[in-house]
Amino acid sequence: MQTRRIGDVQVSAIGLGGMPMSIEGRPDEDRSIRTIHAALDAGITLIDTADAYHIGADEVGHNESLIARALSSYGGDTSGVLVATKGGHLRPGDGSWTLDSSPDYLKQACEASLKRLGVEAIDLYQHHRPDPRVPYADSIGAVRDLLDAGKVRMVGISNANPDQIRQAQEILGGRLVAVQNQFSPAFRSSEPELELCTELGIAFLPWSPLGGISRAAELGGHAAAFAAVAERYGVSPQRVCLAWHLAKSPVSIPIPGASRPETIQDSARAVSLQLTADDLAELN
Ligand SMILES: NC(=O)c1ccc[n+]([C@@H]2O[C@H](COP(=O)([O-])OP(=O)(O)OC[C@H]3O[C@@H](n4cnc5c(N)ncnc54)[C@H](OP(=O)(O)O)[C@@H]3O)[C@@H](O)[C@H]2O)c1
Repeated sequence: MQTRRIGDVQVSAIGLGGMPMSIEGRPDEDRSIRTIHAALDAGITLIDTADAYHIGADEVGHNESLIARALSSYGGDTSGVLVATKGGHLRPGDGSWTLDSSPDYLKQACEASLKRLGVEAIDLYQHHRPDPRVPYADSIGAVRDLLDAGKVRMVGISNANPDQIRQAQEILGGRLVAVQNQFSPAFRSSEPELELCTELGIAFLPWSPLGGISRAAELGGHAAAFAAVAERYGVSPQRVCLAWHLAKSPVSIPIPGASRPETIQDSARAVSLQLTADDLAELN
């Protein structure tokens, strides 16, 4: 498996997004564990999660606990696996997503994530989404305090614009290592953030890289160029899409979601698909 860098840690160039295994439409636990184990078998060493990946109000952290169980039941060595979680989003149980990025809440959320993941320090803690009711500097200041206290090893931000990336980098004293924004063939408006991360050498984790849970399976139907290139190589349009993400920038590390072993196995193979300049021109 090819690797890319988050901070000073090398991770697989394709990660696993945990959300489909814990929100609406999720599979049973056995299939989820098999999916995570298949990702590890394929050489994936980056797993993205969040405390808010759950359905009921009484199961906060469903996805973090699932990942912790999958790692502990895996037969092989998991010491090189980086688990990236997030805080700042909540799900009250009615299907909605709400926000709380107050410093007190973020610190309490981080403590709860530490317990669920069963670790002394979280590998990568990402501020999930700016909360309009809280000054951004206060939220990032809280995450900086967690870093300084050794509760988290590295810090990332998510759903941030270029000004917020620069502001976070300043507040963190140059220690911002990752930005996670929506980016896919159908959603390209994070191009400025990708360019800034490339310039600053910060990892960029495109979320919903295949277009999101409900659209990913039909990617080839929505994006004709991806279907055409896939046909030429005899691979899935999803694999072409992930290879396109990798080719866009050396800091890009896509985190496709999966709820079946087959899909993450296919996605992991995107690292070996070399797209030509002509292919990329067609896809861009
Ligand atoms: N920071 C944020 O605000 C934010 C927001 C949304 C998501 N995220 C993160 O980003 C991750 C990825 O986004 P996402 O899960 O929303 O959307 P996505 O990765 O675009 O799509 C996920 C779906 O793609 C399917 N899939 C994956 N690989 C495939 C392949 N090779 N061939 C065919 N289908 C394939 C999976 O199907 P199966 O279910 O059948 O396996 C899965 O349900 C999430 O899991 C989460 O970790 C972050």
